[in-house]
Amino acid sequence: MRHSSGLLKNYWYAAALSNEVGGKKPTGRVVLGEMIVLYRDAEGRATALSDRCLHRNALLSEGDVFGGCIGCPYHGWTYDSAGRCVNVPSEGPDGKPATDRKLESFPVREQDGLIWVWMGGPGTKPDKDPFPMPYWDAPGWGRYYMKTRFQNGVTHLVENFMDVPHTVFVHKGWFRSRTRKRVRCTVERTDSSVLVTYDQPNDSIGFTNRILNPKNEPMVHTDKFYMPNTTRVDYVFGENTRAFVITSTCTPMSAYETEVYTLISYKLGAFNAIAQFFLPPYTRKVIQQDVEIMEIQGRSLKHHKTPSFQSTPADTLHLYIESLRAYDESGGGDEKPGPTVSEMDFWI
Ligand code: FES
Ligand SMILES: [Fe+2]
Repeated sequence: MRHSSGLLKNYWYAAALSNEVGGKKPTGRVVLGEMIVLYRDAEGRATALSDRCLHRNALLSEGDVFGGCIGCPYHGWTYDSAGRCVNVPSEGPDGKPATDRKLESFPVREQDGLIWVWMGGPGTKPDKDPFPMPYWDAPGWGRYYMKTRFQNGVTHLVENFMDVPHTVFVHKGWFRSRTRKRVRCTVERTDSSVLVTYDQPNDSIGFTNRILNPKNEPMVHTDKFYMPNTTRVDYVFGENTRAFVITSTCTPMSAYETEVYTLISYKLGAFNAIAQFFLPPYTRKVIQQDVEIMEIQGRSLKHHKTPSFQSTPADTLHLYIESLRAYDESGGGDEKPGPTVSEMDFWI
């Protein structure tokens, strides 16, 4: 999948939460179809290597970590954090490390509570930073991550995370209910993002409104997509006194299976203390509803292979996202989608 992903591989992808990677037991992950083993070296630095022993291809993620190295569970070949094979037990004490015995090692960054890996491939250097997860350690903000497995591809997931019309069906009564109101929105495409601003001053989201917005102040709702795989949804109340931000970064495992790391950040003043108890079950319920509808769409897309979509003005943001991702996926050969802005109405 990495080799057929065009320019989509030239990004950082979240491979794990920071607290999922330790110095004793390795962690196995699949990113863009590549099996990767993660562990911490003797200094506590996260390391990412190909999860495929050079000898007989056993999974190193089932082995052990010792002295900053990882040992294969099958015949004990041992690799250092650069992927060099430093010991082959069957060669005895005189065995010499061979230079052609080297696993692919992936550049790693630890940032905002996530372990990110660069998927550009051997010989490429990271030319950008991982996505900054908003308000990860900002004073006055609470936050937590949710990790969710979806049976659908990245394009359709990021569209779902930005899509408003589905909320009154898929999340009816939980997040937003149908009011048959007109919504005006502005959708802008830049060369690497899609930004949507909604004009719906009287909108509210779920039962949380009593806590998020007790004075019923106007709410500003913006949705943003950042290439190639991240969405950020902001709900800001009043003069920015309270806010609730949902940021999701998608890590493709295969064409129809994706791990999503969602950061929920909230600034609710005195309510922050209780929000840590009631927000997680609420957001888990809402995401589970999306897991189900994404599985239903994914099953159809997987069967038919080539999508056949009809669109309305409310789907403009979908078309913009598809155009940016398709350009990168094609390897950047065609004409790059240019900056553009549209305004439209839809009903929810
Ligand atoms: S398969 Fe890993 S040491 Fe043999
Ligand atoms: Fe949803």
